This record gives sequence, C-alpha cells and structure tokens, in this order.
Amino acid sequence: MQLQGKTAIVTGASSGIGAEFSKALTEKGCRVFGLARRSDRLEELRSRLGDLFVPVVQDVNDFEGVEAWVGSTFSGDNRPDVLVNNAGLGLFGAVDELPPEDWDTMIQTNLTSVFRLTRLIVPFMKQSDSVTHIVNIASVAGLIGNPNISGYNATKFAIRGFSEALMKELRNDRIKVTCIYPGSVATEFFEQHGGTHSHMLQGRDVAGTLVHILETPDNFLIDEITVRPLVPKPPQK
Ligand SMILES: NC(=O)c1ccc[n+]([C@@H]2O[C@H](COP(=O)([O-])OP(=O)(O)OC[C@H]3O[C@@H](n4cnc5c(N)ncnc54)[C@H](OP(=O)(O)O)[C@@H]3O)[C@@H](O)[C@H]2O)c1
Repeated sequence: MQLQGKTAIVTGASSGIGAEFSKALTEKGCRVFGLARRSDRLEELRSRLGDLFVPVVQDVNDFEGVEAWVGSTFSGDNRPDVLVNNAGLGLFGAVDELPPEDWDTMIQTNLTSVFRLTRLIVPFMKQSDSVTHIVNIASVAGLIGNPNISGYNATKFAIRGFSEALMKELRNDRIKVTCIYPGSVATEFFEQHGGTHSHMLQGRDVAGTLVHILETPDNFLIDEITVRPLVPKPPQK
C-alpha cells in the first residue's frame, strides 16, 4: 500500500506505541484518526504532527459512542484504508488476587472493543477497490503464558485467534490482517509495573515495522510478526 493520501484509524493514539504509529503514518502523508480518552495528549500530538492527525476523544469501551463516531465520519466516499487496533492495558496480579473488575476491564478494552470497532470498519473495507489493512497489536503475552499476567495473557491469546480467523475470512475481500506480537516496549504501559529499563524496544522502532508491513506489495501479506529486544534485560550487576 502506498500510504500517501490514505486514511488510517489508530486506537490508543495518545501515548506509547499508538502515538509513534500516528507520527510514522502522518510522516508518510497518511491522515490518522487517533482515538483515546485523554484529550490533552491528543491535542498535544496534533500540535506536533499537524492537521493530518485528527484527534478523536473516544473511549473504545463506549460502544455507542464508537458507532456514532464511525457513522458520522465515514461513508462510501470517505473510507478508512487502515485500522490499527492498538488501545490496551495490562492489569497484573495472582489469579486469586486479581479483582474481577480488572479482568473485565482487560477483556473489554483489549478484546471486545477490537471486535466492536472492526465489525464497523470491515464493511467499508469490503467496498474498497484497493487493498485495505487491519493490524492488531497483541503481545508476546499472546504467545507465551506467564505467572501473574493470566488475564492479560487471556486477552492477547484471544487477539491471536481473532486475527488468524479474520485473516482467512477477509483475504478474498483484499483486506489484509496482521497481528503484531511486541516484546517489552518502553511506554507508559510499564509505569505501574515497576518502570522501564534501557534494554526495552522503542515505540518508534515498532512503528517502523508497522510502516513496513503496510507498504508491502498488494499480494504480499505479513500475517504475524514478533518483535523483541535482542537482550531483554540489562546485565545483572
Ligand atoms: N509496552 C509494551 O511492552 C507492550 C508490549 C506488547 C504489547 N503492548 C500493547 O501495545 C498496546 C499499546 O500499549 P503501550 O505500550 O503503547 O501503552 P500506553 O502508553 O499505556 O498506551 C495505551 C494506549 O491505550 C489507550 N487506551 C487504554 N484504554 C482505552 C480506552 N478505554 N479507550 C481508548 N483508549 C484507551 C490509552 O489512551 P487513553 O488513556 O488516553 O485513553 C493509550 O493511548 C496495548 O495494546 C498493549 O497491550 C505493549
């Protein structure tokens, strides 16, 4: 896909990987609708990235709000070419200590909201004469289970299955589906889990991978990709 002049939706655009995705896409001349709840962060991003970045203050778990936004924004003459389902969070804890509300928040934000937005965007993509692309941001936690992140693991394993099924379901409509599995990336995601360290991936590098995936030739699909730090932790002193 040639990104110049295209239209993308990026959820979770207000910080971290989503903000870097938005920057990389606008630098390619792609208009980005960036969804998140923090309006100040979105406005700050618009002042840095310019008018190709369109802030959309929207909780992805407010399904009626999302549906109203899609209905008032897109039409047969104004279709999205790219959907990046990136918004998400990790609430960690032992299974007998994880509050059920935290489980529900993760299932809703990391999984159900992805289905709810995707099902609204796919009909526009099916109408497109050109190849379109859905990219889901999972995690290595969608490939490997680990203690104390069972709820997060469950959501990201689910995104893997959802993505593979969609890839097979939508390929004949010329809709590409890619699932990205990042290892640890230095973002606000880790602030509540003990901070970041010098060996983490940088969001801008994950964004470089996103651009590469999107720019591949039409009949060339990267359906899954894992990106991880070469050396995951600083050497123990
Ligand atoms: N950092 C990592 O190591 C890592 C590794 C693998 C995968 N991931 C995945 O990458 C994605 C982005 O995470 P990040 O690392 O960039 O963390 P981040 O900096 O905390 O960003 C999370 C983004 O999600 C948005 N978000 C959360 N809940 C939302 C809601 N209900 N409605 C709308 N937006 C919501 C946040 O925006 P608002 O708060 O403004 O709404 C924010 O923009 C997540 O899906 C995460 O699971 C991260």
